[in-house]
Amino acid sequence: MREITNCTTAIPTLGVGIGYRSELREGIFSNRDHIDFLEIITENYLSHPDAYRSLEELCALFPVIPHGVDLSIGSIMPLDASYLKAIKRISDVTNAPYYSEHLCMTRTPGRYIGHLAPLWFSEDLLQHVIRRVCMLQDYLEKPLILENVTYMLEIPYSPMSQTEFFQRLVEATGCGILLDVTNVFINAANHAFDAQRFVEQMPLSHLVQVHLAGGYQRGGWYVDGHSELVPPDIFDLFEYLISLCQVKSVIFEHDAHFPPITDLLQQIDRARTIVIRQNRKGIPNKCVLS
Ligand SMILES: [Fe+2]
Repeated sequence: MREITNCTTAIPTLGVGIGYRSELREGIFSNRDHIDFLEIITENYLSHPDAYRSLEELCALFPVIPHGVDLSIGSIMPLDASYLKAIKRISDVTNAPYYSEHLCMTRTPGRYIGHLAPLWFSEDLLQHVIRRVCMLQDYLEKPLILENVTYMLEIPYSPMSQTEFFQRLVEATGCGILLDVTNVFINAANHAFDAQRFVEQMPLSHLVQVHLAGGYQRGGWYVDGHSELVPPDIFDLFEYLISLCQVKSVIFEHDAHFPPITDLLQQIDRARTIVIRQNRKGIPNKCVLS
């Protein structure tokens, strides 16, 4: 029987960084001392040779974590072998200590959904995702960490909660989690549940990375726009999370309405300050974010 260990324990602390977007390139390159590492979207580098060369340039200057969006781990169709080969090439060139993706699906048989769609948290799907995570960790030769997504519609009559699904997934595979604090906040607001309680119920011993972003409200809904700076309420939820556990890496995601880089750097400093403050309180957080 295969022995399951927590694959995330050997992952080093990376610090606080930014999701790399070409619009931020100049600001990132001229503030290297302020930015511990970058996260890139894997799919932006899969096909074009120039993109691959620019990735090599990034990797020469920063630690880089590849973050995929189109694995569709929850789909029932077989994973595409050429896609897997392509993401392994990106994963290898970054030499990253882990690979990140989403606990979701982007495809159904014969149809591309076009966004990160939620899963139905059933026993059958759990076993399917467990098999896939084990296969992917073997294939990529590094831990996989999976992110919680936002959803407009909560699929009814799920046999288990999302937090129980994550818990059983990490126990069965040793994989890690990428907790998008903004996604927790938005889902809690849109679906009327307690965000702190959700955070408490996640398998925090397997927490590797955090995402922080800002969104907006429209028609009574919070939208995960990655278009605004992180608001105080989401920093408060981040601070609550950091009071509970260790975190190895924090990434600010920004995809639209790009602010001056100084605004993003201030947010990075604020996240660092929160982690350091928790350390001073003696909470068992080994994160040394410089
Ligand atoms: Fe995210």
